[in-house]
Amino acid sequence: MSDSASSISDTPNNQNPQNQSSGRELWSSRMVFILAATGSAVGLGNIWKFPYITGENGGGAFVLIYLLCIASIGIPIMMAEIMLGRRGRHDPVTTMKKLARESGHSRSWGLLGWMGVIAGFLILSYYSVIAGWAMAYIPRMASGAFQGLDAAGVNSVFTTLVSNPEVLIAWHSIFLFMTMMVVARGVRGGLEKAVTYLMPLLFVLLIILILYAIDTGHFSQGLTYLFNPDFSKITTDGVLSAMGHAFFTLSLGMGAIMVYGSYLPSKTSIAQASISVAFMDTLVALMAGMIIFPIVFANSLEPSAGPGLIFKTLPLAFGHMDYGTLFGTLFFILLVFAAWTSSISLIEPAITWGMKTFQISRTKTSIIAGIFVWLMGLLTVFSFNLTSEVTITSTISTKYGEFVILKDATAFDFLDYLTSNIMLPLGGLMIAVYAGWLMKREYSREELNISSGLYTLWSFLVRFVAPLMVVIVFLNAMGVVAFVRTIMGV
Ligand code: PHE
Repeated sequence: MSDSASSISDTPNNQNPQNQSSGRELWSSRMVFILAATGSAVGLGNIWKFPYITGENGGGAFVLIYLLCIASIGIPIMMAEIMLGRRGRHDPVTTMKKLARESGHSRSWGLLGWMGVIAGFLILSYYSVIAGWAMAYIPRMASGAFQGLDAAGVNSVFTTLVSNPEVLIAWHSIFLFMTMMVVARGVRGGLEKAVTYLMPLLFVLLIILILYAIDTGHFSQGLTYLFNPDFSKITTDGVLSAMGHAFFTLSLGMGAIMVYGSYLPSKTSIAQASISVAFMDTLVALMAGMIIFPIVFANSLEPSAGPGLIFKTLPLAFGHMDYGTLFGTLFFILLVFAAWTSSISLIEPAITWGMKTFQISRTKTSIIAGIFVWLMGLLTVFSFNLTSEVTITSTISTKYGEFVILKDATAFDFLDYLTSNIMLPLGGLMIAVYAGWLMKREYSREELNISSGLYTLWSFLVRFVAPLMVVIVFLNAMGVVAFVRTIMGV
């Protein structure tokens, strides 16, 4: 399908935020939208988090459930979020207010947009710090600092890095500056260019790394681990965490995809775009798994090494392989690129909202937002060194016993918990409920413009399946599932 791209997008209005609704800039083509949304979806979640939670949950069965969740929650909610964004054509707060008015519902739906703006802001504050770690690894890799190191040596490189606040602050600053530079230049000027070049490059790098993984001689072992489900290894928590991850990895529930949808030309098929984005996001996660597990097995490392899997163990592998310096450097460059395109979308809802609310330019909004995110990021930086001992534990005591929601959580753990476990699921739930139950059916039918069979399927998924599953993820995050399981003795 082709959009009459240039005629629509030839009305750039970057300098004039007041006029957003009438002359809002649009993506120059459907492909650019797909690239940008894929850039948002593919990030640390795919390359860093997916492999380690797969490793923690025993491989194949977890991957299968994750894939089912992408199809049954991810794609319908993504369609709903893009649809709301395109119909509203504003920042998430204004969009939700406008749509609620259009369908005769309360303006408090604007709160959904608000929560997204705040979630994106909070996530970016720690995302930037972790992406900073990946950046810090590029010069270390390139200079061959990991060559010949043993596990203790690699571990100490990581520990030295995270225990030094000045160094972490420096990388966090550089990464955030890169992000805000692109954001400040606006959709046409910055984002499109960034994603048009970055996404294809990302795929090329992944393919090069897969070729290397094949060369390790442990590729089939890696594939078996990823794709041969062993249901005895999966726990209820594993199922819930697969669902939660499906959600996070597609950037759903906080308005990022809604804002991107607001730049989407009206004729573009939302269903096709959503399926393409979910497909590519999943492909990148699976490719990352196919790269990491053969390397893990070839070097007798533990798949269940946890969040340190990439930072603590991959350099060990890279340090002992032919061309390890080259491949290791490429790998961390790739990770930073992926994180970069995600971080742009994390702050975009806050930027569009700020421009509208304070009537200031995109550049000014970006500078102000950047300063706040930078300051907030210090909480995460210090969580790994100066304030690592400052933790909170949150429990609920009932007559059935104590239920621990957060245990020894640092500021970073808390931010991650609050955003991934509470704010995103809640936002996704609200999007599904709004799109499925409250929005007039004629509107969603008109926006989605799919066959009536497909519309019925979408409607069923978004009204029943997705909300129910999200409620379970949410309840799990609140410790309610553990509570119920204990009462019921299962
Ligand atoms: N989806 C991104 C990742 O996998 C993270 C993200 C979440 C980006 C929410 C935007 C919004 O890393």
